[in-house]
Amino acid sequence: MNRDLAHVLISQDRIRQRVHELGEQIAGDVNLIEDSEASLVLIPVMTGAMVFCADLIRQLPFKLRLELVAISSYPGKSMASKGVKMASEVPKNLEGKHVLIVDDILDSGHTIAVLKSLIQEQNPASVRVCVLLEKQRRDGPPVAKADYVGFPIPDEFVVGYGLDFDGYYRNHPEIAVLKPEAR
Ligand code: IMP
Ligand code: MG
Repeated sequence: MNRDLAHVLISQDRIRQRVHELGEQIAGDVNLIEDSEASLVLIPVMTGAMVFCADLIRQLPFKLRLELVAISSYPGKSMASKGVKMASEVPKNLEGKHVLIVDDILDSGHTIAVLKSLIQEQNPASVRVCVLLEKQRRDGPPVAKADYVGFPIPDEFVVGYGLDFDGYYRNHPEIAVLKPEAR
């Protein structure tokens, strides 16, 4: 294991199993939508959701479009959230569509709250949120909710499976806790 990582929180096997379950859960809900054919848009939040979304979409056996959005919440080396920075345009033409936002982790919830309200301005048919991880924050619940959550995790800084610290560790295949001295 990389020497900057303290311990593995979620193994590759558990991630694989849970992503499969999430896919089944989402597919079950999508099947309830009568007009879902060709009206489903998944919006992964780059860059953190890249790995998760790549695995998730292969568990969704129906017609869908992918539209990326890029948002950064922890610019540079700082651990303190400096707010939500849109690094790309919000996808267009979402009116009447069923939108599923896909993100790596729900922490304060500000990222999801901002993105959701920008999407809602376009009058989509529905907006749902799927996150792989939800942090159990010491300072209270997040300002936005997710409809699908892979794993609740303790209030620690994690990397791997797409999640980064200062741009690194995204390629680590499991979810791991970063050593405090590596930050
Ligand atoms: P929020 O706006 O506070 O919910 O932050 C969500 C974003 O912050 C996520 O999309 C991640 O990019 C990033 N983030 C929050 N916690 C962590 C973490 O433990 N590791 C890596 N990135 C994190
Ligand atoms: Mg992110």
